[in-house]
Amino acid sequence: MATALIGGLCESNFDPAQLYVADPDNEKIRTLVASFGINSCANNQSLVELSDVIVLAVKPQVMKSVLQSLLIKNGQLLLSIAAGLRCDSLQSWLGEECAIVRSMPNTPALVQCGATGLYANKKVSDQQRQQAEQIMSAVGMTIWVEQETQLDTVTAVSGSGPAYFFYMMEAIEAAGIELGLSVETSRALTLQTALGAAKLAIEAEESTAQLRARVTSPGGTTEAAINTMQSHQGLDSIKQAVNAAYKRSQTLAIELADS
Ligand SMILES: NC(=O)c1ccc[n+]([C@@H]2O[C@H](COP(=O)([O-])OP(=O)(O)OC[C@H]3O[C@@H](n4cnc5c(N)ncnc54)[C@H](OP(=O)(O)O)[C@@H]3O)[C@@H](O)[C@H]2O)c1
Repeated sequence: MATALIGGLCESNFDPAQLYVADPDNEKIRTLVASFGINSCANNQSLVELSDVIVLAVKPQVMKSVLQSLLIKNGQLLLSIAAGLRCDSLQSWLGEECAIVRSMPNTPALVQCGATGLYANKKVSDQQRQQAEQIMSAVGMTIWVEQETQLDTVTAVSGSGPAYFFYMMEAIEAAGIELGLSVETSRALTLQTALGAAKLAIEAEESTAQLRARVTSPGGTTEAAINTMQSHQGLDSIKQAVNAAYKRSQTLAIELADS
């Protein structure tokens, strides 16, 4: 995810000389420096000493040990991309109050087509909000939420969301093969249809429900398909799935805080 952010920033004309990276793996650092022309630091604390904004891009399970060994200065912004770690936990591991923006990106960030939810705690200034937004915008669209708990909903909708669409694509692709198409043809048609549907929904003025109704002629093939999905609680099961992700996001945050 950090590599995607660095790549996105460099592509959006952010000066690579202003970017620093620290990682325990020297080989990874060498690759990043060679690929993007950014700078490296020998360890996390030397990076912190040079930075206005510190992007926390480690796995949630190692965040506690990383933060406990850092000394943050007043005026610095911490931008966490770690799933499920609440500001309270980050603050308690740092041992002091500081400006924190929590973000929830998703995997399409890897192709600069991500959707990221952002939340700022009370210590974050307007300028720091802009800095956080600039960084996360490098890998796609960003949306601010006012309550930290709304990040659990963002996690359920867009964080886990790519998997819901992959699941649907998986099913359509398999059905196409079962009905006689080659693997390549079924895959190509499925993926292009997913892309086209998303593009149309983004560009159209109608709601997704209206768009669906427009392609569903009475007595036609789409109606036959939609009726079958409805009879298997299609819409309801997707809503229940999003709810399950939301509840899991809440419990994960509690588990991670206690870890
Ligand atoms: N991937 C996603 O789609 C996604 C979506 C939303 C949020 N996130 C969040 O993004 C964060 C990173 O995820 P990822 O998938 O990019 O994980 P990742 O590929 O494992 O990247 C984490 C990086 O942190 C390095 N690291 C480990 N310990 C460190 C330390 N003490 N100091 C500095 N660097 C250290 C790791 O190095 P080693 O490999 O050498 O240990 C690795 O390069 C996670 O918190 C995750 O929750 C990811």
